[in-house]
Amino acid sequence: LSPLAFCISAGKVNPPSPEEAARFLNSLDDFLHRSAAITTITTEPELSDFYHPETFTEILRAKLFFEERESQGDLGSAHWFVKACLLHILHGNRPYALSRRSHGIIPIPPKGPVVYKSLMASLRDKVHRTNLQSLSQCFTPGVAHLASAMAAPLETGSVDAIITSPPFLGTTEFLRQNRVRLWFSGWSYAQQAEKKATGSFLEYHKTLEIYSDVLTEFRRVIRPTGLLVLHLGVVKKLDMGRTIESVAPNHGFEPIRLLYEDTTSLESHGRTDRGATHQHQFLFLRPIN
Ligand SMILES: C[S@@+](CC[C@H](N)C(=O)[O-])C[C@H]1O[C@@H](n2cnc3c(N)ncnc32)[C@H](O)[C@@H]1O
Repeated sequence: LSPLAFCISAGKVNPPSPEEAARFLNSLDDFLHRSAAITTITTEPELSDFYHPETFTEILRAKLFFEERESQGDLGSAHWFVKACLLHILHGNRPYALSRRSHGIIPIPPKGPVVYKSLMASLRDKVHRTNLQSLSQCFTPGVAHLASAMAAPLETGSVDAIITSPPFLGTTEFLRQNRVRLWFSGWSYAQQAEKKATGSFLEYHKTLEIYSDVLTEFRRVIRPTGLLVLHLGVVKKLDMGRTIESVAPNHGFEPIRLLYEDTTSLESHGRTDRGATHQHQFLFLRPIN
């Protein structure tokens, strides 16, 4: 649904060869060296705090590079893959990151010295670390679609399996947590706020009622012999799995099993609080024919 999710998915399901990635990096490098004036980019006040001014200029130029290509269409597989790599290094708390010290997932306000990081050097390293040359021989490329799960551009009865991890009710605000990467992907903060208000993102719903629409669409696209697996959570006082399991037959699915993940022996990595999610669970459903 978001241009960020689309880019990452498209890069993963259809990665380029190492040679294609290298050619693409060279064309981005050429573009960054051309001294085009940057007049068409809107930025957000908090962003300049994340970067050394020269690094930020390179990021703005790179944003323009991807936007120009996307407006022309006809994008090869290297486009989304390299862009996804750049989105990854946009912020973090390790040396790979172009930002001052922040966090790899959430763009928490940055701290520490303002140091120039070369976009091309960091991006080339990142692409190198993905080990494109070691892609398995049996890898089958796929297709990503930019669409809501409630309006999939897929034919009726065409899907073997839907395996999905929808937002856990009332926990993570994915738009806010991805705001810097979404900005780079083309959604200004104002546009992100508008999207939040549309209700198309499940994480902004206060109840599970919207799952009627989700299950109806899943039932439309799935094959009669298909399988639906939902990764859900027990949040606050609500067991998402049990709630969705109970309404599934109204939307043409019968429950096979609801499994709870045993987390008793999980590493805590120093955390004492598991947040609003008490337990993870997997709901298996099949179409009623
Ligand atoms: C728990 S995350 C899934 C993470 C993903 N499986 C991964 O491994 O990175 C749920 C995601 O669903 C997205 N989402 C919410 N409503 C959606 C919709 N109607 N269609 C598609 N995605 C949606 C959220 O914005 C969020 O990014």
